[in-house]
Amino acid sequence: WPLHAPLIDAINRLKAERNAVILAHNYMTPEIFNCVGDITGDSLRLAQVAAEAEQDVIVQAGVHFMAETAKILSPEKTVLIPDLEAGCSLAASITGEDVRRIRAAYPDYPIVTYVNTSAEVKAESDICCTSSNAVPVVEAIARQWGSDTVIMIPDEYLAKNVASQTELRILTWKGDCEVHEKFTRAEIEQLRAEHPDAMIITHPECPPEVLRAADFAGSTGAMSAFVAEHHPKKAILITECSMSDNVAVANPGTRFIRPCNLCPHMKRITLAKIYESLRGMRFEIEVPSDVAVRARASLQAMLDLSG
Ligand code: 13P
Ligand code: SF4
Repeated sequence: WPLHAPLIDAINRLKAERNAVILAHNYMTPEIFNCVGDITGDSLRLAQVAAEAEQDVIVQAGVHFMAETAKILSPEKTVLIPDLEAGCSLAASITGEDVRRIRAAYPDYPIVTYVNTSAEVKAESDICCTSSNAVPVVEAIARQWGSDTVIMIPDEYLAKNVASQTELRILTWKGDCEVHEKFTRAEIEQLRAEHPDAMIITHPECPPEVLRAADFAGSTGAMSAFVAEHHPKKAILITECSMSDNVAVANPGTRFIRPCNLCPHMKRITLAKIYESLRGMRFEIEVPSDVAVRARASLQAMLDLSG
């Protein structure tokens, strides 16, 4: 990424001056992921690191709910997001008021909330989960509540994919990831026919029939680890476009076939905006303390289970 070199140098200098750490999600473009991200990974790993960060400033190279999670877990830090408009279709699909209505209708069932939600939604929930710990979280909370039914919001596909791995009854919400909902079984079958020697690896935000047609499904971190562990000759990652770029750098022996969908929210984060963010100390994430305390309890319950 030589064209980006001056910006990368400037960011890395400012980072040291501000005593900042940059947390970069796996969907960041390669120049962000490889050249300025201090910690990279899936949403669980970034939340775990945010909870223990020693620096004064956290820059979230990811979307808004990830920055909010970092602020909730590290309230004394300054948490910055380079673009306030970097949202998520799942987070936009549900409000705190919706969760209060669900609670009133089903008071006996625990509510598990995907981290891809606002602080207010987390605050109304019993526990959070990510795509890497959803099954054990759902089973643990069901045991704690003595319930055979769990409400899992807001991703209907993640909920259905979890339901296929447990005996529990899972109720859900009509939220979808605008990136992963677009993949179809027909597309996977065609890829399989064209590349019978490829490992097809999906994210659990995809529709269940897409997962059934694939070889493996997991969080972005688990997808990356699967390639590193099996080092297939050919791999197809059914997810956001930057994943293949980043996993390819770490796995030069694997050839990547790249059908993918861009996440417009993740792609709002650029090197230039990260530079401006550190220079102007913007945009600072704030979460009202009454909401933050309750959202933190849901996140902490998840982190306590996730080791
Ligand atoms: P991961 O937790 O797998 O990184 O997923 C986050 C996300 O937004 C996927 O679309
Ligand atoms: Fe949200 Fe989907 Fe983008 Fe992830 S890929 S941030 S779930 S819209």
